[in-house]
Amino acid sequence: MSMMFWDYPQLPVQFMNREHETFVGLMNDAEQALTMGTFSVQHFKRLVQHCQEHFAHEEREMQRTHFPGFELHKKQHDRVLLEMTELLKGYVATQDIEPLLRYLQDILPEWFTQHIHTLDQVTAQYLTAAYAKSNRRAKSIG
Ligand SMILES: [Fe+2]
Ligand SMILES: [Fe+2]
Repeated sequence: MSMMFWDYPQLPVQFMNREHETFVGLMNDAEQALTMGTFSVQHFKRLVQHCQEHFAHEEREMQRTHFPGFELHKKQHDRVLLEMTELLKGYVATQDIEPLLRYLQDILPEWFTQHIHTLDQVTAQYLTAAYAKSNRRAKSIG
């Protein structure tokens, strides 16, 4: 089943919300293509590429602001990227859509919702405070 805008929380950091919306769009596109028989490997590759960029963006911001939960958050990103790469390899080798379908219908939406509620949420709160602090500093210097 497709995931909707209201299925996951909005965060106080706009770039994260934008990227989450893109993620959900690409995940839904791939899942719909699988169920309608129009799937090509590009659907999944686009999702993987988006995840690489989306995760790297969050990681850059966490590092730049010295977020203490960086390692833990990055570990979850890396695990999901590895899962996706393995699935892609499996699909290319077997052309079996079942594992992909199960992943896109159940496993990935569940992970994504859980990830936003926990690590992305905590990160967004930390980033918001860090941005406010550097804004105040910039104002006092300027
Ligand atoms: Fe995220
Ligand atoms: Fe994240």
